Amino acid sequence: MSLTVEMWVALIVGVAPIFVGLICWFWYDIWYGIPVSIRCIADGTKLPPGYMGFPFFGETFNFLRYFKTLAQPDDFINSRKHKYGDAEMFRTHLFGSPAIIAYSPGLNRFVFHSDTLFGQNWPSIELIGKNSVLAVEGPLHSRLKSFIARTISTPDALQKVTLMVQPRVIAALQTWAEKGRVFGYDEAKKLTLANIGKYFANFEPGPKLDILSELYAWFVKGARAYPIKIPGTTYYKALQCRKKALSIFKEELDKRKKITSWDVGANAKHDLMEGLMQYRDEEGTKLSEAEVLDNILVLLLAGYESTTLSITWALYYLAKHPHVLHKLREENLLSVKNKQGDMITFDEISKLSYTNKVVEEVLRLGNVSPIMFRIAKKDVEYKGYKIPKGWKVLCWIRYLHVNPENFEDPLTFNPDRWDDQPKPGTYLVFGAGKRMCVGNKLSRLQISIFIHHLVLGYRWNLINEAAAVSYLPNPKPVDGVEIAISKI
Ligand code: HEM
Repeated sequence: MSLTVEMWVALIVGVAPIFVGLICWFWYDIWYGIPVSIRCIADGTKLPPGYMGFPFFGETFNFLRYFKTLAQPDDFINSRKHKYGDAEMFRTHLFGSPAIIAYSPGLNRFVFHSDTLFGQNWPSIELIGKNSVLAVEGPLHSRLKSFIARTISTPDALQKVTLMVQPRVIAALQTWAEKGRVFGYDEAKKLTLANIGKYFANFEPGPKLDILSELYAWFVKGARAYPIKIPGTTYYKALQCRKKALSIFKEELDKRKKITSWDVGANAKHDLMEGLMQYRDEEGTKLSEAEVLDNILVLLLAGYESTTLSITWALYYLAKHPHVLHKLREENLLSVKNKQGDMITFDEISKLSYTNKVVEEVLRLGNVSPIMFRIAKKDVEYKGYKIPKGWKVLCWIRYLHVNPENFEDPLTFNPDRWDDQPKPGTYLVFGAGKRMCVGNKLSRLQISIFIHHLVLGYRWNLINEAAAVSYLPNPKPVDGVEIAISKI
C-alpha cells in the first residue's frame, strides 16, 4: 500500500516533534559524548556514566530542584548513584559546561593532588581577579601562598589575632544581649568583617565596611550564578560590585602610597595589605598594584562569608544540643579558673580539646564550602574512566562529610566522633593539596574564640527551632538563625 501525500504529511508532523524532542533530550550527550566515546574506544577507557541534559541549560534545573525546591542537595548524588552504580563520579552539564562530579574520597584526593592534570577553575576568573592567589598558578602561586601563610598562620600571627579579635567578640556579644533578640547570621557577619577588615586592611567598623559587606554579598551570589554578562543578571551585578570594592581598596592603597614615601615607620599598619605592598620575590620584584588589589579583595572575600557561616552554624548547633553546650561550658570554665581578665591566649585556646572537636563538627556538618571547581588540562584516566580534557571537575566535598560510608550517623551533630581520626580523604572541609585553604588555622581560631566567650557568658535559644535550610549560594538556616540571647 502506498502512502498518500496527506499520510506522509501526518506522519512527518507526528514523528518530527518526537525526533526533535529526542535530539534535545540527548543533545549534550551526543554533542560531547560522541567525540569522547571515540577517544575512549582508542584507549579502552569508558565515558563516566550520567546524563547531560538539554541544550543551553544542561542539568541546571535538576540541580536547582535538589538544592532549592527539595532542599536535599545530597540526593543529587544519591539519585545518580542509584541509577548508574557507584562509579565514584558521573557526567553532567552544569553552569554552562560539561562536567564530571567527583564524590568519592579517592577521586577527590586524586584531583586535589594532581595539579599537573587539573587546573584551578573558579566559575569566573573575571570575578575573582586574574592576579589573585585563587587564580594564579605555578611559582607565583606558591610564593604568594607562603607569604599569606606566614602572615596569618604562624603561631605568632595567630597569637596576634587572638589578642586583636577578643575585645571585638566580647563587645559584640554584649551588644547582642542588650538587644535581646538578634539574627545570628547578620551579627556574625558584622563581627567577622570587623575582625578580618582590621587584620587584613586596617579598616574599622563604619560606612566603608558596611558598603563592603553589601558588595561582598553580591560577589558570593555571582560566584554561583550563570556567567551571563547582561545588565540585570546576578553575574553582571556581581561584576559591578567587584569594581566598586576594588575602588575602595584602591583609595586605601593610594593613601598608603603617599604616607609610606615619607614615613613608613610611624604609619605602619602591620596588616595583610601592607605586607602585600611590601612583598618582594627572590629577585626583588614587587607585586603590581593590580596584584595587590586582586589579592586583598579576594582574601577578605575568602575569609569573610566562610567564617561568618561557620560561626552562625556554631550558634545553631549548640542551641540544639544542650549536652554539648554543657560539656563545652565545663571545659571553658576550667580554662579561665584562676585567670585574671577576660582574655584567653592562643596557647590556651589550642589546648581546649573538646572545644576543638566542636569546631571540627561544626565545620563538617555546616559544609560552608560545599563544592570546589577544577578543569581537566588533558584527558585523564581514573579507574578505567576517562575524564575528558576541558571538562570541569566538581569536587563535591560536602558529600564526603555526610556520607554514612565515611561518618557514622553523619547527619547527627556529635563532636565525640572526633575522638578518632576520620578515614583518609573523607574530611576535606579546607580542600587538599597545593590549593588547600590558607586560612584554615585562622578560621578555626576565630570560631573557637567566639565559642569560648559565648558559652562562658551567655545563654541563648533559637526562635525558629524548625527553620528550613537553604543551600544556595551557601548552606544556612533560612531564618538567619534568629536567637533570643541574654547574659548568664
Ligand atoms: C570556615 C572557614 C573556611 C572554609 C570552610 C574554607 C574553605 C576553603 C576551601 C575548601 C578551599 C580550597 C579551594 C580549592 O581547592 O579550590 C579554600 C581555599 C582558600 N581559602 Fe579558605 N576557607 C575558610 C576560611 C578562609 C579564611 C579565613 C581565609 C583567609 C585568608 C581563606 C583563604 C583561602 C584562600 C586564599 C584559598 C585559596 C588557596 C589557593 O588557591 O591556593 N579561607 N578555602
